[in-house]
Amino acid sequence: EDKKYILAIESSCDETSVAVVSLENDLVSNVVASQILSHKRFGGVVPEVASRHHVEQIISCMEEAMTAASVTVEDLEAVAVTEGPGLVGALLIGISAAKAFAWANELPLIPVNHMAGHIYAASYVKPLEFPLMALLVSGGHTELVYMPEHGEYKIIGETRDDAAGEAYDKVGRVLGLEYPSGKEIDELAHQGNDTFNFPRAMIKEDNLDFSFSGLKSAFINTVHNAEQKNETLDRLDLAASFQASVVEVLTKKTLDACGEYPVKQLVVAGGVAANKGLRQGLTDAFTTSFPNVELIIPPLNLCGDNAGMIGAAALVEYKKNHLAGWDLNGNPGLSL
Ligand code: KG4
Ligand code: ZN
Repeated sequence: EDKKYILAIESSCDETSVAVVSLENDLVSNVVASQILSHKRFGGVVPEVASRHHVEQIISCMEEAMTAASVTVEDLEAVAVTEGPGLVGALLIGISAAKAFAWANELPLIPVNHMAGHIYAASYVKPLEFPLMALLVSGGHTELVYMPEHGEYKIIGETRDDAAGEAYDKVGRVLGLEYPSGKEIDELAHQGNDTFNFPRAMIKEDNLDFSFSGLKSAFINTVHNAEQKNETLDRLDLAASFQASVVEVLTKKTLDACGEYPVKQLVVAGGVAANKGLRQGLTDAFTTSFPNVELIIPPLNLCGDNAGMIGAAALVEYKKNHLAGWDLNGNPGLSL
């Protein structure tokens, strides 16, 4: 019998993405249309602009994903779409396209949590094994998630203020970098040294939560104080010092979490999982402390927002027969 596929759609923020995933969890195509160039001049994502771009891009992304995968409508088993969290107007574009396509072709509709998608990006690297720990680090979220089983999520720690990616982007603005600045700070950091010794928030506290707003303020105050005295600070050292604090806190809390909750695998996911400093620092510390736990950090193209990850998470929901009705709505605050 012919292979069957899921068409997955992601539009929660500033990437319009459509992927084709087989029921055996092979990623056959993963088209990502980034809007970043349009948002750069505003210094962040403008929701109205994002929605408009999704409208313009969504149909051609769907066509391109199907063509690249050499599949036709007859090869499809279901349509999956990100339900939330994200920008409500942006989510609604993907959801409307998914509903229309599914309804017209009499296919079931699978609702997917965007953060679950980030975790399931790791399933393209290796089959997931449970219990599993996930460190989710993106522009909007910083969470430690314990998974006893497929599709079951328990948030055991999270940020009390800014997300890690958000801190990168805000600090980047002070350095005069374009949005989103995580990647560029990462590159600067590798050429500098941790000379500023910024705070490591909550690192000594006996919990699995994070805080990045104090670090952000310390960074901004340091830069502003120097400006007032007409001093110039070494940008490379500033970036390196900021990154050292982020990596140290994320690593320490993740190791603590794995000590508290024995797991078979650790997954690091979300846009900030693309950070070279974090990938290296966490890998070194983790493989020393937990040599028997498998560490999976997806390749860079699967760390940022993409529909491939939504398709992988959709397979789990589909097996549980968790389907959406035609009244599916965008859920901007959806949690795991
Ligand atoms: O997961 P994602 O693509 O979108 C959200 O769901 O938020 O994450 C985007 C975030 C941005 O804040 C961006 O600055 C950050 O990921 N990011 C990085 C790197 N690449 C992207 N942060 C640090 N280092 C990087 N290399
Ligand atoms: Zn994301």
